[in-house]
Amino acid sequence: MSDPRLDTLRESAPGLRLATTPAELEYYGRDWTRRWAPAPLAVALPGSIEEVQAVLRWASAEGVPVVPSGGRTGLSGGAVAANGELVLSLERMRRVLGFDPVDRTLTVEAGIPLEAVQAEAREHGLQYPVDFAARGSCTIGGNIATNAGGIRVLRYGNTREWVAGLKLVTAAGELLDLNRGLVKNSSGYDLRHLAIASEGTLGVVVEATLKLAPPSPPVATLLLALPSFEVLMQVFQLLRERLALEAFEFFTDVALRHVLAHGAQAPFERGYPYYVVADAAAAGPDDDRVLEAFTHCAEQGWVEDGVVAQSQAQAAQLWRLREGITEALAPHLPYKNDVAVRVSAMPAFLADAQVLLGAEYPEFEVAWFGHIGDGNLHINVLKPQALAPDAFVERCGAVTAHLAELVQRHGGTISAEHGIGLVKKPYLGCTRGPAEVAVMRAVRAALDPAGILNPGKLFDPPTSPSR
Ligand code: MLT
Ligand code: ZN
Repeated sequence: MSDPRLDTLRESAPGLRLATTPAELEYYGRDWTRRWAPAPLAVALPGSIEEVQAVLRWASAEGVPVVPSGGRTGLSGGAVAANGELVLSLERMRRVLGFDPVDRTLTVEAGIPLEAVQAEAREHGLQYPVDFAARGSCTIGGNIATNAGGIRVLRYGNTREWVAGLKLVTAAGELLDLNRGLVKNSSGYDLRHLAIASEGTLGVVVEATLKLAPPSPPVATLLLALPSFEVLMQVFQLLRERLALEAFEFFTDVALRHVLAHGAQAPFERGYPYYVVADAAAAGPDDDRVLEAFTHCAEQGWVEDGVVAQSQAQAAQLWRLREGITEALAPHLPYKNDVAVRVSAMPAFLADAQVLLGAEYPEFEVAWFGHIGDGNLHINVLKPQALAPDAFVERCGAVTAHLAELVQRHGGTISAEHGIGLVKKPYLGCTRGPAEVAVMRAVRAALDPAGILNPGKLFDPPTSPSR
């Protein structure tokens, strides 16, 4: 029997598409964390801003929690609906609304996949440079909700840099048209930036005006095998000085082994502790500056083996080694850490983190990879088969408390690009001070007084004072 609240929702938003079958609730109620059992009330699939407004007015009036939902590729539980929430999926709102050649902007509905935005930009001879492996499934709305980063932040920055304007529907159903694509706007608080990385707690992003860039230069793709983290940082420094780096990503032998077991082709005859895949602006694979930089690293004894891709196909093969990691690790239910420190703090942080995690996880397989040029490390602990998922998460959670303290000591963040969601909520206080969290609470309460937007994500409401 249908929940009576859905009847009032249908009255409030006539014609709204609702999904309620067990398979649909399961599909829309989870994200890539796979840690929580999905249990939403229903799934609303609005086709217009007006329908989103009607849903949120109804939810505020009825006190029904709402989980805004994009491609659900998130890794921190930000889009999980496990407590009778209404999932508000933007997947039907995926149109390109306009391109402006003078402003070099693209206006899109928030449910459009990242890859479709990239393709549309290319049609106009430009690029949308934010990029990462989930490009085919993740949506612009989700990217904005987490300020998604990815593999080209080093050169182009995070999603935040590329949002010229956005439309946000508040919990009360008001439509806020934020910044309207302006380059300059010193007229007070920039609520656009408050909405970015708010994880659906301040409103639902329904539309975005995105900046586009000229196409990237042709690149040479390099894969380098390295002996240690220290050397990795030296190679980064050198390549950054000598070349125009478009990307600089690293992974360890553990990560590579899993990608190879998943069908990728081994790049070298033997294994090495660390690998870097990098794109550098170049006239071609034989570009002198690239070869000179490569030779210099080899002469210093930094590079144990290496290859410069000779074709697009080979470059794609090398990139697969990095981009295939998430999928290859997924069957091992990895406990994911997504920490960052300033790039200058990386060497000291890495040394401490290696000691800490070596001592804390002696019996677990740990895959390190990520965006070392952004100071962002993904430390994935793989679940041993014999260990129950709950016991594994508990064990990793205890270690993460120590890692969070270490990150705090080095002035970093517990989440660089995945968001806090449910997964990192216990550790928010190591990244944001109590006064800062209090301001965040006040902002959230001002925009969502009934607390219906993504409750339980990012931080919990303060416990009521005892009487
Ligand atoms: C990546 O860098 O590959 C993404 O952040 C996804 C992940 O951490 O698994
Ligand atoms: Zn990443």
